[in-house]
Amino acid sequence: TAALPVDQLGRPLHDLRISVMDRCNFRCPYCMPESTYGEHFTFLRNDERLSFDEIERLCRLAATLGVSKLRLTGGEPLLRPHLAELVARLRRIEGITDLALTTNGVLLSRQAGELRDAGLDRVTVSLDTLDPALFHRMSGGRGALDEVLEGIEAARAAGFPHGVKLNTVVQRGVNEHTVIDLVERFRGSGIVVRFIEYMDVGNRNDWRPDDVVPSAELIQRIGGRWPLRAVPPKYAGEVATRYRFEDGAGEIGMISSISQPFCGGCTRARLSSEGMLYTCLFATRGTDFRHPLRGGASDEALTTLLRDVWLRRRDRYSEERAEHHGKAPRKIEMHYIGG
Ligand code: GTP
Ligand code: 5AD
Ligand code: SF4
Ligand code: SF4
Repeated sequence: TAALPVDQLGRPLHDLRISVMDRCNFRCPYCMPESTYGEHFTFLRNDERLSFDEIERLCRLAATLGVSKLRLTGGEPLLRPHLAELVARLRRIEGITDLALTTNGVLLSRQAGELRDAGLDRVTVSLDTLDPALFHRMSGGRGALDEVLEGIEAARAAGFPHGVKLNTVVQRGVNEHTVIDLVERFRGSGIVVRFIEYMDVGNRNDWRPDDVVPSAELIQRIGGRWPLRAVPPKYAGEVATRYRFEDGAGEIGMISSISQPFCGGCTRARLSSEGMLYTCLFATRGTDFRHPLRGGASDEALTTLLRDVWLRRRDRYSEERAEHHGKAPRKIEMHYIGG
């Protein structure tokens, strides 16, 4: 068998993020603003989304090229009917050591047990604030904070083998003041909260550099209240930098994609719900796998296509961001590629 592919910058392929659903039951203004994604927006038809058979097949082939970590995303992945069935199928693929899910949490209390039983290793819930009114604004008026908190509790109680994390996107002047509450609430719970610097993903969020709260500033603020100590990464290329509470109440993470880009260790590929493969969160173009899949391509042909895409890859958008001076080319939308 041929050697595992590395890209033009020497990076191997380890992670595949799979968007299983382009729809979402939230309308977060920074991702799917109601003004664009209103009643008249056309989402994919069911037959345009990859089937479980197709997803499973691509994952099995990706595993032969070095993928060991799979993450199911959306839109909102829990809107995909029978998701636990897909989890059970992906669980059986040889070489997959980490099977994760990123969700907004609203449907999680109903599905957590079933997902754990199907073999899901861990869950990451997006939660930007504990303030109900601000939550309402940040989710575009959809869902309720209590439902998300119930979902988080259900996930904790389900006992996922690799645990539960929270993702909090921090925007200057929007939710930065609720960071301390979030830390206070989840400190000591075993749930790891990770703060994400607000990024210029997609084309609709009017991102400006001033909207970013640099991680260093948050660490100062949080560490001023509860002393923190930096801890080394769990694995090479880990997206979050980790900090442990000196008093033993667990840890938090910082995802500093703006202030400290991590493209050098980026081993991620992303598969959209309609079967386009992207080699960067900020990609402008992808590679279609759905048509080859449905056109009868052999395993060998699909594997070669995937290998070739990876061999050609040279993406490092976050490291080049400054050079675009806010005039970046048209990017793929976040809800379509799953963050
Ligand atoms: P762990 O495996 O738990 O460390 O998490 P993960 O980074 O695989 O997954 P998660 O979806 O929780 O990632 C958190 C957030 O980090 C994402 O939602 C994105 O906002 C950001 N992120 C993840 N991967 C990338 C990446 O390749 N590039 C950039 N710029 N941001 C990323
Ligand atoms: N910047 C940073 N993170 C974002 N997410 C969505 N949009 C952005 C953005 N502009 C996060 C979501 C979720 C994850 C998939 O990506 O909140 O936690
Ligand atoms: Fe919000 Fe995530 Fe849905 Fe986007 S995909 S609208 S960030 S919940
Ligand atoms: Fe990877 Fe692109 Fe993110 Fe850099 S910007 S870490 S290359 S996904």
